[in-house]
Amino acid sequence: MEKITAAITSVGGYVPEYRLTNAILETMIDTNDEWIKTRTGVSERRIQKGEGLASSDMGVEAVKNILQKKGISPDEIDCVICATVTPDMLFPSTANIISDKAGIKNAFSFDINAACSGFLYALTTGTALIESGRYKKIIVVGVDKMSSIVDYTDRTTCVLFGDGAGAVLLEPSTDENGIKDSLLRTDGSGKPFLHMKAGGSLKPSTIETVMAKEHFIYQEGQTVFKVAVKSMADVSYELMQRNNLTGDDIAWLVPHQANLRIIDATANRMGLPKEKIMINIEKYGNTTAATIPLCLWDWESKLKKGDNLIFAAFGGGFTWGATWVKWAY
Ligand code: UT7
Repeated sequence: MEKITAAITSVGGYVPEYRLTNAILETMIDTNDEWIKTRTGVSERRIQKGEGLASSDMGVEAVKNILQKKGISPDEIDCVICATVTPDMLFPSTANIISDKAGIKNAFSFDINAACSGFLYALTTGTALIESGRYKKIIVVGVDKMSSIVDYTDRTTCVLFGDGAGAVLLEPSTDENGIKDSLLRTDGSGKPFLHMKAGGSLKPSTIETVMAKEHFIYQEGQTVFKVAVKSMADVSYELMQRNNLTGDDIAWLVPHQANLRIIDATANRMGLPKEKIMINIEKYGNTTAATIPLCLWDWESKLKKGDNLIFAAFGGGFTWGATWVKWAY
């Protein structure tokens, strides 16, 4: 039987209108534009403002974007997978809520939590479902409302993160284009360095946990930085090697946007020049599960059928991975 390949056939995205600039952050905490730009690459981030709005409200916009562009009915979608660490609620899943808001009625939907690598984990899962031959249209969403878990008095984290959503449509491929290979990893011993202390079954929410600010991101930046540089570069290199790809074969690196210096190190290891790297960290910051699909959304018009793309991510967990995609349209 002929092997079915999963192809990305459309990209959608959404970012909130409000821009939290470095200049505004300078008025809130002891920081400065120069430090933020040189240490991270971020100039501004988008923040979802307004009562009653959550990750699903951004995710559904990215999904609707795809449905409109492709002219497909919500009824045709078989499955929605949402990668997020900022679900609307612990349950039901944000994918469920997105499906409801988008009018998707004939699908099953679920969330994946792999922090900044979540989109790659969800994409790999969706790919396997398409390759099984049982499903024809799967939407993979990466969304995070990081502003809901950022402590805006902590200068070591609040300058980094932003809100946003990106999504892709996966369909069976009719040629050799599509998702070719994926290499994903986890190392749970990374938990102490990047996590949220309370709100889970280990430490349920109490007045004390709120007072102790334990519902915000906790990060030991330098440790995470060192592991991220090595892991993201190594996994991308290994993926290229096992598929006999060189820097010349790659049209684009689509890296997770956590820090410009981590991106540069990965590109160097892969032998890629700056012109081949998608970078939008300066305008969105780190949107966690949304960074990779938001890059695709921003660059979609420049992509050509047959282009080799490497997606690479590293995040809390620790989680990391790389995916090789041959662009299908
Ligand atoms: O996406 C998920 C995975 N996360 C990551 O990949 C993040 C990885 N880590 C990083 O990107 C970097 O470690 C950070 C951007 C978080 C921090 O950069 P760094 O170069 O590692 O800075 P540092 O933590 O070593 O801090 C250097 C100095 C410190 O001051 P002293 O001790 O040297 O006096 C900090 O207090 O910079 C200070 N600092 C700041 N100064 C101005 C920390 N945050 C700020 C700030 N503004 N916002």
